Amino acid sequence: MTRTLRIGLLGCGVVGTGVLQLLRDHRERLTSRVDVALEVRRIGVRDIARPRDAIVPTKLLTDDLTSVVEADDVDVVVEVMGGLDVAGPLMRRALERGKHVVTANKALIAEYGSDLLEVAHAHGADLYFEAAVAGGIPILRVLRESLVSDRVTRLRGVVNGTSNYILSRMAQEGVDFEVALREAQAAGYAEADPALDINGGDAAHKLAILATLAFGARVTPANVYTEGIDTVAAEDIAFARNLGYAIKPLAVARETPSGQLDLRVHPALIPRDNALANIHDAINAVQIDAAALGSGLLSGPGAGQLPTAMSVLSDIVDVARNYAAGAHGRVPPRAVREVRLADIPVHDILELRARYYLRFSVADRPGVLGFLATVLGAHDVSIEQMFQEGRSDEMRWATVVILTHRARERDIRDAIAEIERDEYVYRPAHRILIEE
Ligand code: HSE
Repeated sequence: MTRTLRIGLLGCGVVGTGVLQLLRDHRERLTSRVDVALEVRRIGVRDIARPRDAIVPTKLLTDDLTSVVEADDVDVVVEVMGGLDVAGPLMRRALERGKHVVTANKALIAEYGSDLLEVAHAHGADLYFEAAVAGGIPILRVLRESLVSDRVTRLRGVVNGTSNYILSRMAQEGVDFEVALREAQAAGYAEADPALDINGGDAAHKLAILATLAFGARVTPANVYTEGIDTVAAEDIAFARNLGYAIKPLAVARETPSGQLDLRVHPALIPRDNALANIHDAINAVQIDAAALGSGLLSGPGAGQLPTAMSVLSDIVDVARNYAAGAHGRVPPRAVREVRLADIPVHDILELRARYYLRFSVADRPGVLGFLATVLGAHDVSIEQMFQEGRSDEMRWATVVILTHRARERDIRDAIAEIERDEYVYRPAHRILIEE
């Protein structure tokens, strides 16, 4: 007789509703693949009265969230409500009760993953989180299970769909930042608090999870240098395009030659012939460099209802397979047991060496280009290209765009600070790293 895995769902918004839809649409296929029936028993939500899709079985709804994790008729808690304060203690309690947990909550895993995984281990429970990173792309499984036999040296990618969507819409259609953000929210890509998408926080959560798996290192969001896309202006996108680059929300985790981890999230100019420059809208992509593999690219929908729900459901299937086999913990969710994670030193962003795109608004007066070049030169920043554009006769100001040779981040910042002190320079100056 087919056994049943009883599911308690926490959260029934975009992703939770998607999980219900996939459970219905793929019911027979799932049962035959897993040999375990998957059945939702309880659905915990904050607001029962909120209008919901017809697929949601309203008789299962409760606003007593604790009752879902305490219930004896729930084997696996599926947390898709997001946030830390409410979801964190609920997830911990579920694990302490020996219930398996599947979550899409990247903030929680990135910040408290070690603690939660230790609780899971101690109580014989599984904790999976494929949907927390890059939506529908099975990147965690690939790092955990396929590349377990290799040594990853660099991950580089676009891991926030909302910010990629915004920059793509600005670049392709000239859509305003705010309008593009509203479109991303309407499409269900954005976080409940979209500031996390815009300021790079969401991508930093994801990069911390990715880097932990890829490098066997204890990485939290605090280790990730983070800049948002909110400083990118339409004119930067246009200048970059004319120079042969796209501006993308980039996330990088790289082992440096001195054995440190270079961890950063920021907008970057990417040469148009690089695959990452051609990842548009809410699509995500991760380039993986590894010693034996060489280089590979995984790309696909990084946000959105069904791609994310599909990843959540794939974890439920893993739990069900373990359940059927009477096993758990065979594959550590972060590729190694938590106690084996290493403390690898983080590379200081100020010591990073890269090429940079700089944009200054300056008074259009004799000697201004010489002034910029002199200050940059004094800080050991060498100019590769420089041009001036957009002089306005009434305002008598001009935009100067400079591409530098490789320079140290610290020197770039010092040079900009000195240039901005000049009375003929309007602040802020804009600086965007060029990722080769
Ligand atoms: N807000 C996230 C994004 C959702 O835009 O990528 C997927 O994690």
